[in-house]
Amino acid sequence: MASSYAANKLMAFSLGSTPAVVTSDTCIAREILTSPHFASRPIKESAKQLMFSRAIGFAPDGPHWRMLRRIASTHLFAPKRILAHEGARQLECAAMLSGIAKEQSLQGYVQLRKHLQAASLNSIMEIVFGKRYNTTKHDNETKKLNEIVREGFELLGAFNWSDHLPWIKYFYDPFRIQERCVALVPRVNGLIKEIIKEHRHGNSNKSRDKCDFIDVLLSLDGEDTLDEDDMVAVLWEMIFRGTDTTALLTEWIMAELILNPKIQKTLHSELQNLASNGGFLTDADIAKSPYLEAVVKETLRLHPPGPLLSWARLSTADVHLSNGMIIPTNTTAMVNMWAITHDPKIWNDPLVFRPERFLGSVNNVDVRGSDLRLAPFGAGRRVCPGKNLGLATVSLWVAKLVQNFEWVEDCERPVDLSEELKLSCEMKKPLFAVGISRPN
Ligand code: HEM
Repeated sequence: MASSYAANKLMAFSLGSTPAVVTSDTCIAREILTSPHFASRPIKESAKQLMFSRAIGFAPDGPHWRMLRRIASTHLFAPKRILAHEGARQLECAAMLSGIAKEQSLQGYVQLRKHLQAASLNSIMEIVFGKRYNTTKHDNETKKLNEIVREGFELLGAFNWSDHLPWIKYFYDPFRIQERCVALVPRVNGLIKEIIKEHRHGNSNKSRDKCDFIDVLLSLDGEDTLDEDDMVAVLWEMIFRGTDTTALLTEWIMAELILNPKIQKTLHSELQNLASNGGFLTDADIAKSPYLEAVVKETLRLHPPGPLLSWARLSTADVHLSNGMIIPTNTTAMVNMWAITHDPKIWNDPLVFRPERFLGSVNNVDVRGSDLRLAPFGAGRRVCPGKNLGLATVSLWVAKLVQNFEWVEDCERPVDLSEELKLSCEMKKPLFAVGISRPN
């Protein structure tokens, strides 16, 4: 729409009573994402009701948000914490591979999405809650966890008119968002507060490496102390941010590898040469794989998971842009990362999946927020704090999936690259494929 009005730099419009702007231009995107006056986010009604206003992603810019960010960056996302959790990620990955092998031998094909979602949820639960669930099993607690997470995703991902026309909620709520949020909150509180209680009464002599994020939050003192409701909000948010994005990015990568067997083969050869420990791939091996890194980047370019609205920013003062335009206070601003990563003025053959475009030092594009041509994790003060954890997890899974199986398209269930914009931009149809076990 913006390009049909030649408004790529900035297009202004209204969503009901919400004034909004959207840009598909890298320079304006940088100005918005890095401006101190755009360091807050608009909050959806459902997110507010589901307690997210006190969590990192939606807390307004200020001391509370800064404190949460600092705690998470030090104790959850610091490189040494990511390293300390490698064991948990490896364990989850091994369980996923064995589930996949079982399904393949039982039915001759695999639905990858459900394995990736389960592994994602299990591994975030382990890192954050120190609790290993097996979401493929059907005990009561696991069922409860699966249900509340699924319901939370639906509520947060649904388009809700009352976010933009507040008066409408009294008579038009076709998805019953309000009522469902009210029903969900006590269930979330019940589950998470019980886990916090177990931690309070559990072993307080854990070594630093064995500490999970709840242990860290409970050990905070002085002005860093969080009350229990704030802890629930922060922990609950991590489940959402960590689960969805990691699983769906891996699904997109696998879909592209299945459609591009030559690229899959090149990746497999590189991984074979890297595995140092009797074929067992570690984070350290994977960090030495430029082709895998290029495959991940190329997928982030073609299918950036972060959609427009759920990561929008809110102006807290009038913002004067370098091109002379002024964005007034209280405007919702969005960066159309999809348009930027498909822009033929920036990328040759933008619709073609070609990881080679990222090989070699000249083509080295940083995806962590310093290069706005490809910033799937955002940029500036509110850049995704989980980017390194997300990339480490996705890279490990893709490496192991390709090392253990040759993936080919299932003729009866072909790969469909149609997109669906929910909380993130995901594959509209779940990915099915045939996984042929490779000899060890
Ligand atoms: C492939 C994986 C991921 C992608 C593509 C992704 C993408 C994003 C994007 C686009 C933003 C908004 C950034 C901005 O406004 O500039 C964001 C924020 C955030 N992400 Fe991620 N993310 C991923 C993984 C994770 C993981 C694993 C976690 C945590 C376990 C996480 C936690 C967060 C949080 C807490 C925020 C809010 C930051 C704030 O507002 O201060 N993300 N993410």
